[in-house]
Amino acid sequence: MCGIVGYIGNRQAAPIILDGLSKLEYRGYDSAGMAVYDGKKIVLKKSVGRLKVLENLTHGGETMPGTAGIGHTRWATHGAPSDVNSHPHLNQEGTIAVVHNGIIENYIPLKKRLEERGYQFVSETDTEVLAHLLDRYYKGNPLEAITKVLHRVEGSYALGIIFADHPDEIYAARKDSPLIVGESEEGSFIASDVPAILKYTRSVYYMDNQEVAQLRRDGITFYSVDEEEIRKESVQIDWDADAAEKAGYEHFMLKEMYEQPKTITDTISPRIKDNDIVIEELHMTEEELGKIEKIHIVACGSAYHAGVTGKYVIENLARVPVEVEVASEFRYRDPILAPNTLVIIISQSGETADSLAALRESKARGFKVLGIVNVVGSSIAREADSVFYTWAGPEIAVATTKAYSAQLAALYLLAMKLAKVRGTISEARFQELLMALRRIPDQIELLLGQKEKIQHFANRYVGARDIFFIGRGIDYAISLEGSLKLKEISYVHSEAYAAGELKHGTISLIEDGTLVVAVSTQPNLYQKTISNMVEVKARGAFVMAVTGEGNLAIEKASDYVVYLPQTEPIFANSLAIIPLQLFGYYVAVGRGCDVDKPRNLAKSVTVE
Ligand code: AGP
Repeated sequence: MCGIVGYIGNRQAAPIILDGLSKLEYRGYDSAGMAVYDGKKIVLKKSVGRLKVLENLTHGGETMPGTAGIGHTRWATHGAPSDVNSHPHLNQEGTIAVVHNGIIENYIPLKKRLEERGYQFVSETDTEVLAHLLDRYYKGNPLEAITKVLHRVEGSYALGIIFADHPDEIYAARKDSPLIVGESEEGSFIASDVPAILKYTRSVYYMDNQEVAQLRRDGITFYSVDEEEIRKESVQIDWDADAAEKAGYEHFMLKEMYEQPKTITDTISPRIKDNDIVIEELHMTEEELGKIEKIHIVACGSAYHAGVTGKYVIENLARVPVEVEVASEFRYRDPILAPNTLVIIISQSGETADSLAALRESKARGFKVLGIVNVVGSSIAREADSVFYTWAGPEIAVATTKAYSAQLAALYLLAMKLAKVRGTISEARFQELLMALRRIPDQIELLLGQKEKIQHFANRYVGARDIFFIGRGIDYAISLEGSLKLKEISYVHSEAYAAGELKHGTISLIEDGTLVVAVSTQPNLYQKTISNMVEVKARGAFVMAVTGEGNLAIEKASDYVVYLPQTEPIFANSLAIIPLQLFGYYVAVGRGCDVDKPRNLAKSVTVE
């Protein structure tokens, strides 16, 4: 996902923009650029490659003097990564510069019409259309030109714009792609996300769809897309500044793994009152909760995997049928949703395009949507009928850990609440579960203490070619997540399989020394999973088992065992994921991978 930073004030803009973009590197990008007004004209510098290239090109911003400017890190969608395709883009006279995050879906016909009017394009991007369209409509009034353009374009955008003959203003606009505006005594800021400007201000505005902001050195004015001035409330960000830094850990991912105990505590504690679960943000009475006849969970990636766990937990406790689906499939298959279905969209970033589209599809069909989201004020959070925030704080590493664990905790609370309202569990059973849930943070702490042991084992597999994860029932759900964690950061091929399914084909891939990670945390399935482990061992596999304390029988079918503290079987995923996260992390570290910013990936996929 692209990153945007803009500044106008009494300080040099370029160093502030470069610093802000560096805090957005986690979003994934392939090129970077800046445009700064130097008192006479707009100066543009941009290049393919890491932000360091731009820093070197501009001597840390020194060669771009000026107190108003915009910057961008690009994650390519239209047009390969290249200097010319990187942002900012200019109109032909170089008097208007624009940066963009999102996709202009009707850029081809717009580009054609502009070319017919004599405009010449230099890039393959959709964004360059905006620069020329702004030029076409600009008659000296930036706001008028911008709103005219916004009425013409379709798709998603977060924009930063500067006009050479309006050097005391920068403009921003937003539709579907996140954009915030900040203010301080030193000036005004725009950014794609809070970490970019947290160093300069904690007072921010979350822009809503089709809003335009005019930033000046001494203040900000917001307008609707019809040029009507609108009032917005600022939000005070209370994140610690170091929350966006590594706090001494080698990688954000490791830091965030270690934050999981706190993340779960922060997510469950505010919703447990007098030994009962109170989820006010559901905005649903107990009667409405009791009427839910089906739940449809829609998400992507790890959030989808959390949904698979959620299915097992909700069905086990509340006896409500749950369907789980990846958002990119849901949105185009004309889904059949039964009456009284609650749709749950799970998304850490709250900006994943497919998940946002699934939310809109569900609402368009008249279904209530609950968002389980980590980023406050994100698109999914704002468009869902109700939102259950996971209080994981900013998650910087592309590979999610703490936000995923918080999603599990949210689903446990929801399942228990539904079960209690529907009377499918007794009060005694409810209290038992509550006690087990409260113990999870400390148990995770214990498992994190096995870091060195897991690291030692993982080092043996830095050269692995294929690694398989198997499990039955809820252990299959965590195998999916364990496999994704490994492959997305270490680039080692991996697959997760329902343990009983392996013998229907994929077992043919098992060779001498192939590592198979068998997750077995459900006592009623211990023996079944042992049989599957014996099957793969007979074909030469090396088996790592992740199982509950006391399951000693598994040793005869294992080469390496990680024991988990005793917990309620339906909460076991929250414990089993810890050794799997550590395993994937240390294989990636051993392979010298860029753990926090894996190749080809972005923290939030805001394009299809
Ligand atoms: C998780 O480690 C991956 N980075 C990715 O699968 C992610 O979970 C997925 O893109 C969904 O993101 P979201 O939760 O922000 O919607």
